[in-house]
Amino acid sequence: MNLPPFKLERYFAKYEFNTEYLLCSSDSESMPVADLLAMEEGAAQKFQQVWLGYTESPGSPALRAEICRLYETMQPEEILIHTGAQEAIFLFMFAAFKEFDHVIVHSPGYQSLAEVARAAGCDVSPWRAREENGWSLDLDELRHLMRTNTKAIIINTPHNPTGYLMAPEDYQAVHTFALENKLLLFSDEVYRESEYDPATRLPAACDLGDHAVSLGVTSKTYGLAGLRIGWVATKNRQIYEKMASLKDYTTICNSAPSEFLAEVAMRNRTRLAERNLGIIKNNLAIIEDLFARHSGRFSWVRPRAGSMAFPRLLKGNVEEFCDRLVKKAGVLLLPGSVYDDARNHFRLGLGRKNLPQAVEKLEEFLSKS
Ligand SMILES: Cc1ncc(COP(=O)(O)O)c(C=O)c1O
Repeated sequence: MNLPPFKLERYFAKYEFNTEYLLCSSDSESMPVADLLAMEEGAAQKFQQVWLGYTESPGSPALRAEICRLYETMQPEEILIHTGAQEAIFLFMFAAFKEFDHVIVHSPGYQSLAEVARAAGCDVSPWRAREENGWSLDLDELRHLMRTNTKAIIINTPHNPTGYLMAPEDYQAVHTFALENKLLLFSDEVYRESEYDPATRLPAACDLGDHAVSLGVTSKTYGLAGLRIGWVATKNRQIYEKMASLKDYTTICNSAPSEFLAEVAMRNRTRLAERNLGIIKNNLAIIEDLFARHSGRFSWVRPRAGSMAFPRLLKGNVEEFCDRLVKKAGVLLLPGSVYDDARNHFRLGLGRKNLPQAVEKLEEFLSKS
């Protein structure tokens, strides 16, 4: 197995815990354990009694039952809990693929969605999101990318880093294409339930048939990354069983305290999502004003969901810009090069409460440069 460094994580490793203003985070504002426990009467006392032995390998039955409520048709035995979404991506790729398989991957995107497939031996074709089309994907391009050895399509909507949300007719067409060509569809839905207009929420892929695997996590929409609880939901027994068996070699089972807290979180997920969406919408208005004041410096496609946008710096080199900004003003932006983007984009995070102060610092910096 050959895995190159995860560019985004290496960039964050330099700055995440020593920079005051993280203006590029993908997760929403988090909270202390006490605030989460206070959402439910009796939860704090029950938490004290959580047994610290090994837990059930597929995940606690109560947590899996709670996660089922995200979906229309899923049963607890169709949910497999992991340590974050990251472990689930890793195990899916090694469960589903073998050497010389071909996969089509939404691009630019979260690095492991392409890289782990490559490490599992796959030939990877990027399916490119086009900024000029609002970061949408072109279905004709998908047809052209298809080969005789294609095994899967991997998509991410709502999308990291652009905030793009697929149109329902395109989403349906991708499912139909996967079904007609007997492909697996891995649907990274970790930003689901953070659509700015709830009417635009897409059906979860796992509800649409056993060709599909949905990926979820507590980190993003619900703001609880420190729980490290992610999951896949799928009616595909073969994939499920293979992933469950691989998990015996990675984490065996999940952290008992985290499973308990995730169960509380998922029972209260609507409140958590609404709180975080409130922060995001407030921040969006501030960013819209910022870009209107600096239209000669930045352009952007306004996101439709999630906690990120992928604007473009119109003058200068974005890597140098981000480097100077973090060193001089203590504000972290993420240059698009960590996504192999060569067109001067950067990732902007919308989910943190201190975004107004970060934007003030950014403008102060702009006024001096
Ligand atoms: C699209 C996408 N998928 C998966 C993950 C992994 O989530 P986690 O870090 O909670 O495991 C991320 C994290 O940034 C992501 O943006």
